[in-house]
Amino acid sequence: MDVIRVNGPARLAGEVTVVGAKNSALKLMAAALLASGRTELTNVPQITDVMIMAEVLRRLGCDVEISGDRVVIDTPVELSGHADYDLVRRLRASINVLGPLLTRRGYAKVAHPGGDVIGTRGLDMHVAGLARMGARITGEHGYVIAEAERLHGTTIWLDFPSVGATENILMAAVRAKGTTVIDNAAREPEVVDICAMLTAMGAKIEGAGTSTLTIHGVDELRPVSHRTIGDRIIAGTWAFGAAMTGGDVTVHGVPAGYLDVALDKLTTAGAQVDRFSDGFRVRMSQRPRAVDMVTLPYPGLATDLLPMAIGLASVADGVSLITENVFDGRFMFINEMSRLGADIRTDGHHAVVRGRERLSGAPVRATDIRAGAGLVLAGLCADGVTEVTDVAHIDRGYPDFVAQLRSLGAPVERLTVPDEPDPFARLSPG
Ligand code: EPU
Repeated sequence: MDVIRVNGPARLAGEVTVVGAKNSALKLMAAALLASGRTELTNVPQITDVMIMAEVLRRLGCDVEISGDRVVIDTPVELSGHADYDLVRRLRASINVLGPLLTRRGYAKVAHPGGDVIGTRGLDMHVAGLARMGARITGEHGYVIAEAERLHGTTIWLDFPSVGATENILMAAVRAKGTTVIDNAAREPEVVDICAMLTAMGAKIEGAGTSTLTIHGVDELRPVSHRTIGDRIIAGTWAFGAAMTGGDVTVHGVPAGYLDVALDKLTTAGAQVDRFSDGFRVRMSQRPRAVDMVTLPYPGLATDLLPMAIGLASVADGVSLITENVFDGRFMFINEMSRLGADIRTDGHHAVVRGRERLSGAPVRATDIRAGAGLVLAGLCADGVTEVTDVAHIDRGYPDFVAQLRSLGAPVERLTVPDEPDPFARLSPG
């Protein structure tokens, strides 16, 4: 079992360059299903999720080669339409093969990925959107089965600007007959990145980055080479890390504009923020001031930065109100933050955080990717040793996390400790 051991307290200082965005790369890989031939993606992060997505595509019939940050996908003319539960349950983004498979093959059978520790994560908007385009969709034995001779254009109003539903409907619509309008569409930079790749492939898309996407279906798409945008969530993790630890971190590889709200909150908390064309610098020379934060779909503060926002508030001077508006289970990790001495009370989707000058190191468990990174940062604000277990979660989203932390001067190490048999492992603390 691997653990990350943090010897706190410590500050982060130095420069880092972020890799390509996980949540773009995984969908760009799914988009490669839309055109037979050789798609080349660069600036792809070397993380477990990319390996799993590569395996999903292989099982659908693609040839996938990964070397460094480059992924080459050779998509055959005839694809399989079946994505199994054993892979889909490991990677929610694999549901994004549904739209491309359906529009190309007229049939897709994809395992329902279920919920996870950050919330219920429904599929109703994916399903309703594709159904409105003419798909017959049924659920059977844990699978979503979608069939349509040819999807047709229509207008779809999303109840919520869901990233995954926008992407699935978008990828189905690019090869549908006629014009599809997605209203209340997600505006995340990762959605814009997919629109850019699809447009280069020959798709006709208007409104990328706005709430209304208009897609004029075409008969054929061609494979392209595409560079993934930088990961704004990793960049934001470093920004909060600098502010929490009284640090000074310069981040390259992401436009500062992707993080406008986050950087503005850090400024309110007392940080000095300088913006460059491909990054930013965050300096904090005092204890952060308490600041209220609210997560929202883009351009709001990203829900994936909620653990970092809670971490900042936990060491800030004063009381912060943190509100989560995207996932119903995002507060799950707060029990672990409490083990580090953070003073947090939740009520529904609100958390009241009374800042403490310093946290206190303890063993804690990463419950998801972002919570894991947030707990490591909190460990930097704690006296003594913090050991974070279940680091496989962190590996899913942060390549070389420990090496990057060390390059910023953090006394952090990754250790493999014997996984002792625990006779009570199957029991949850009731
Ligand atoms: N929702 C529904 N029905 C649907 C679709 C979504 O109720 O049909 C709900 C979800 O349950 C959730 C909310 O809508 O409460 C937002 O979900 P969304 O579809 O926007 O999220 P997602 O596509 O499942 C992606 C990222 C997440 C990121 C969210 C929000 C990927 C692979 N995942 O998830 O990233 O938090 O958008 O920005 O792109 C992460 O990287 O750690 C991560 C969780």
